[in-house]
Amino acid sequence: MTQNMNEMIERAKTLVEALPYISAFSGKTIVIKYGGNAMNDENTVRTIMQDVAALKIVGVKPILVHGGGPEINSMLSRVHIEPQFSGGLRVTDEKTMEIVQMVLAGKINKNVVSLLNTLGVKAVGLCGKDAGLIKVKKYSPNGTDIGYVGEIVSINEKLLEALTGDYIPVISSIGADEAGVSYNVNADTAAGAIGGAVGAEKLIFLTDIDGIRSKENDPTTLISRISVGEIEDMIESGAIKGGMIPKVRGCIDAIRHGIKSVQIVNGTIPHSILLELFTDSGVGTMVTA
Ligand code: ARG
Repeated sequence: MTQNMNEMIERAKTLVEALPYISAFSGKTIVIKYGGNAMNDENTVRTIMQDVAALKIVGVKPILVHGGGPEINSMLSRVHIEPQFSGGLRVTDEKTMEIVQMVLAGKINKNVVSLLNTLGVKAVGLCGKDAGLIKVKKYSPNGTDIGYVGEIVSINEKLLEALTGDYIPVISSIGADEAGVSYNVNADTAAGAIGGAVGAEKLIFLTDIDGIRSKENDPTTLISRISVGEIEDMIESGAIKGGMIPKVRGCIDAIRHGIKSVQIVNGTIPHSILLELFTDSGVGTMVTA
């Protein structure tokens, strides 16, 4: 057989491997959290959105939740707003919140929506203020006032359920309190709460790391599957530390919200979503109860 024909057969095998997953996930809701460094590069964003559109086309109901990443900071410095801190925590004052909302809901959200809409699907941009999608109250860690940072009180899952049949909701992680005031919400937390509220099958955290490693600095020690209990042991023993802790806590919280699996995937690997969902081995770390 020619080289070319062998390659063609390999490709057919990839499709065959994907089929049971396509039928298992079709009709199910999958929440994808996207943000940070995975949204820096135009080509990366494009391949991510191609994957999201592909999910929709095979019958999955994707919901995209995004944060701000570096764009908020660059806009703040363009308008000469200095970052403020209180007790080591970043403070979101009124002016900062205004910029956060402009960048998240005005710029990033609309860019993602228009890109998806060129890829053969219909995306709708929302933020937590739309129809009470994300209701929050002020979050004050240990009584410290850090400004307009919100803690999630409720999610309007009915709005999302009404949309996901035909559309892909793209959600900026901003919430509103009872009085309609805007608050910044951690996008990982928002994705977990939204996934829980809609009874999502899966939550995918797109980041710029491959997943959880048993040795932090050794990329060859990527853990393919892990349980919540095993993660807790690794936090206890110090194997998971630093910046990784909030990420894995986000995974644990999402599982506690009732989501069956949370998958940490490197969004900078082209088509990592399709590789994770539609192959047996996946490319990231799969967290289950
Ligand atoms: N494609 C399957 C799923 O999404 C298996 C993924 C396995 N992933 C992993 N990191 N071990 O359910």
